[in-house]
Amino acid sequence: MANIIDGKKISAEIKEELKEQVAQLKLAGIEGTLAVIQVGDDPASSVYVRNKKKACEYIGIHSKSFELPEETSQKELLDLIEDLNEDALVHGILVQLPVPAHIDEKTVINAISPKKDVDGFHPESVGALTIGQPGFVSCTPAGIIELLRRSKVKMDGANCVVVGRSNIVGKPMALLMLRENATVTVTHSHTRGLKEICRNADILIVAVGKREFITGDYIKPGAVVIDVGIHRDENNKLSGDVKYDEAKQAASLITPVPGGVGPMTIAMLMHNCVEAMAR
Ligand code: GUN
Repeated sequence: MANIIDGKKISAEIKEELKEQVAQLKLAGIEGTLAVIQVGDDPASSVYVRNKKKACEYIGIHSKSFELPEETSQKELLDLIEDLNEDALVHGILVQLPVPAHIDEKTVINAISPKKDVDGFHPESVGALTIGQPGFVSCTPAGIIELLRRSKVKMDGANCVVVGRSNIVGKPMALLMLRENATVTVTHSHTRGLKEICRNADILIVAVGKREFITGDYIKPGAVVIDVGIHRDENNKLSGDVKYDEAKQAASLITPVPGGVGPMTIAMLMHNCVEAMAR
C-alpha cells in the first residue's frame, strides 16, 4: 500500500521559504510585481487567476490584474504585453490560457519577454531547458521535480515513463527528468504496448487528460506514481488520470487528486516570480 505524497504540505513549505526570500529582497529595496492577464470570463480560469493573486499576496509580492473582455482584439492584448515588457516595475507576466479562439495563443506566448516569462512557455525558455541553460521552467513539471526531491525519491538512473507529450507538461517533464539523470521514455496516443512500457517504470508520470486512464495493472509493484490529471464528475467529485484506489495498492508512493500535483503549480509560479525579482 502506497504512502501519499502530500502536495498541499510541500507547496505550503515552498511558499513559506519564498515568503522569507521576498522579505529579504524587500530589505534590499526590491519589491516584486506579477502581471496577470485574463481575456474573457471562463469560470475555471477565473478560479486559477484568483488563486494566483492570493498566492502573490501571501508571499508578499504585488499582483497587477488585467481582466479583459472576451472581444479584446489580439492587437490590444499584444499592445498590453508590450507595455508590461517595458515596465521596469513588473517582474513577471502571465496570460491565463486558454485565450479566446480569435486570438492566436502562440503569438501571445511569443510576445512575452523571456525575462518575464514566469510560466516558462516562451520558445526561448523551452530552448534553454532543452540545452541545460538557465531560464524559467514550466511550473507543473518543475513542481513534480520538487515533490520527488522533497519525498527523497531517487531519480538518478531510475526508469521514468512520462505518459503524454504536451508542451506544458509532458515534454518539459521529460527534459527535467533527463537533467536528473533518469532514463526517460515519453509515450503518447500512438505508442504501442503502453501497459508494458508503464510496467517498467520506477517513476510513472501521467499527464494524458483522460479520467482514470491508468489502472492498477499498468503499475510496477513499488513504483512512484505522479498523477497530473484533474477531472470533475457529475457529482463534483475530483479524480485524476490514474485509477487511484487500484494504483495505491501497487505503488510505493503516489500523489492524490486533489492535493498532489495541483497545489505545486502555483507554488512554482511563485518560485519563478521570486527568481525574476532576484535576477
Ligand atoms: N491554463 C492552465 N494552466 C495554465 C498555466 O499553468 N499557465 C497559464 N498561463 N495558463 C494556464
